[in-house]
Amino acid sequence: MTQKWALVTGAGKRLGLETARALARRGYTIIAHVNGSRAGAEALKHELAADALALHVVASDLSTEPGQDALVAATKALAPALDALVHNAGIFERAPFETIDRAAYARMQAINAEAPFFVTQGLLPLLRASHSPCIVHITDIAAERPIAAYAHYTVSKAALLMLTRALAVELAPHIRVNAVAPGTVLFPEDFDAETRARFLARIPLRREGSASDVASAVAYLVADAPFVTGQVIAVDGGRSIAL
Ligand SMILES: NC(=O)c1ccc[n+]([C@@H]2O[C@H](COP(=O)([O-])OP(=O)(O)OC[C@H]3O[C@@H](n4cnc5c(N)ncnc54)[C@H](OP(=O)(O)O)[C@@H]3O)[C@@H](O)[C@H]2O)c1
Repeated sequence: MTQKWALVTGAGKRLGLETARALARRGYTIIAHVNGSRAGAEALKHELAADALALHVVASDLSTEPGQDALVAATKALAPALDALVHNAGIFERAPFETIDRAAYARMQAINAEAPFFVTQGLLPLLRASHSPCIVHITDIAAERPIAAYAHYTVSKAALLMLTRALAVELAPHIRVNAVAPGTVLFPEDFDAETRARFLARIPLRREGSASDVASAVAYLVADAPFVTGQVIAVDGGRSIAL
């Protein structure tokens, strides 16, 4: 059987880590990109090795052009073809509109939107070398329904959402491009009990999502959805359809 390769960005913790684990369990050799969370990816590497599953860790800072180029180069050095490319790395920062300066705005767009754009561009030869390539962007339900005090974040995720649709059109018929839009999945660590309760009250399923809820949706798009492209799956407990 031909070896299948998947690159997951931000794979050292939380949603990215669980997505890397889910794709490895489906038989993909994983390239786990990290920035600071190397320990999480190394632990997963050891866990998978016990079952003879392979994971390679590559580190780069996706806020810079050299960092984005380094991830492309490291991936090319490892894999002859890329079957799945999951753009999960992202930053999420609360900041009232009037406080967002140019540096903060540029950094948000660089990590959340430009890195997926240019890393995919750099990896096109590898994607084209795959029999059935698929790209998945991790967006956010807030890409279409903004929340106050996250203007630069929601702009970046709206760009990523449109990149999903633009590339689904332009890279068809060979490459499929879809998105998973989480709602509240694993609260940010600094959310207090009162904030958590406020969020949960607005979710029809009355719970936060788990990392595996997102990972399962990604794995479906990658491995089980050959006629699906340009789509967004909200993994949000119904939050985006409730008033
Ligand atoms: N959790 C949610 O409820 C939720 C909701 C909506 C959307 N999302 C989206 O889902 C994705 C994962 O969410 P999460 O909660 O797991 O995020 P998280 O815990 O904040 O992790 C962010 C990831 O992005 C990576 N990253 C941050 N800055 C980076 C940089 N400069 N260069 C390279 N990588 C960088 C981090 O890598 P290191 O740790 O290695 O530094 C980390 O793996 C994100 O795109 C997020 O916007 C999450």
